[in-house]
Amino acid sequence: MAKIILGLLVLVASILAVAPMDTADYIRERNYPVEKHTVVTQDGYVLALFRIPYSPRRPSRPGPKPAVLFFHGLMCSSDFWVIISPEEGLPFLLADEGYDVWLTNSRGNTYSRKHLTLSPNAKKFWQFDWHEIGIYDTTSSIDYILSKTGEKAVHYVGHSQGCTTFVAMLSMRPEYGQKVKTSHLLGPVAFMSRMPSKLMRILKDFYLKMPDMETLYNVPLINRINKMMCSGFLIRNLICRNIAFMFGGYGSPHLNMTLMPLIAGIAAAGVSTRQIKHYGQLMDSGRFALYDFGARLNLKIYRSRSPPDYPLREAYTQQPIEFYYSDNDAMSAVEDVEQIINALPNARGHRMAYTDWSHIDFIFANNLKEHLNNDIIDIFNTFESRYSGAYGN
Ligand SMILES: *[C@@H]1O[C@H](CO)[C@@H](O)[C@H](O)[C@H]1NC(C)=O
Repeated sequence: MAKIILGLLVLVASILAVAPMDTADYIRERNYPVEKHTVVTQDGYVLALFRIPYSPRRPSRPGPKPAVLFFHGLMCSSDFWVIISPEEGLPFLLADEGYDVWLTNSRGNTYSRKHLTLSPNAKKFWQFDWHEIGIYDTTSSIDYILSKTGEKAVHYVGHSQGCTTFVAMLSMRPEYGQKVKTSHLLGPVAFMSRMPSKLMRILKDFYLKMPDMETLYNVPLINRINKMMCSGFLIRNLICRNIAFMFGGYGSPHLNMTLMPLIAGIAAAGVSTRQIKHYGQLMDSGRFALYDFGARLNLKIYRSRSPPDYPLREAYTQQPIEFYYSDNDAMSAVEDVEQIINALPNARGHRMAYTDWSHIDFIFANNLKEHLNNDIIDIFNTFESRYSGAYGN
């Protein structure tokens, strides 16, 4: 008995002894240079931005470099872009192509759990949803990058919630359309009435009754145990893969199973319950509308009993907003994506050729470069070779 307890203690101690990796560590481990920056939003949240300023494979060329902003999905962080191998991952490939790469973090997640005056222990800290992430975190991140680089506009890449926030930002702050070159929305979520995931519908009913608070946050010890368990072949294939399928889409053969322990080691990164509640409202209403505070508060805030729709006709960028979507995306139905594409003044759809492509395959698939990233990079490079002068470079 004593031996077993001692054994367990040694195991826990050895798990705890490994220093946790952050986004900068993952980037360094892949032999790319990295900088960490801090951005303060208009409403006082303190965000962490990671930057890959250049690629070791392509020595810095003189002159300004075009910048690109990456925005992660719900429950995610900047880690999710960089655990993949540099031969396949978009941030690294774009650095190789001569782009200045910035990965931001939304308020409340592991890296951005900070405010100038509010403590994360205060209820008020958590009174936000992806609406604020769109109109404050995204705009502040863009402005910070522009001020650091002297550029006049950025390219944008968003996954999942990083698409919702982008569309919300452009419709509420249309002047930011001028600050965007090309934009690429992967596994995009906006209209949600045809939400395929049963799990999300159950979660939604649960969360809609909750107060505004922190949830699904990062617990380093649990992440380490997850990572260790998902390293073993049997558990990885029987359990970890099925959990990934619940959030991604069942039966995808594309998911790179080598990444599974790494994915398990970084999920989840923390959100406010209100982010999930706002999504739940969209599932129920079938609209793409602002947060519903209830009739009484809505009257005060919006001067109408129900929240207004996002003014999608305002969400205009000179280049078409590129939507990459798929038939086996548990978080986003094809019909819902096509509804938002049609509602926007300038958007273009790219439906994945593989019908089994899932929500997380957009960032974790095998041969991601060949299946997706080469096409995205082509659009970046075509833009830069054609229009760069017009955008002040
Ligand atoms: C899967 O991921 C591993 C680890 O990043 C990488 O070495 C390998 O090339 C990837 N496989 C494919 C087919 O993309």
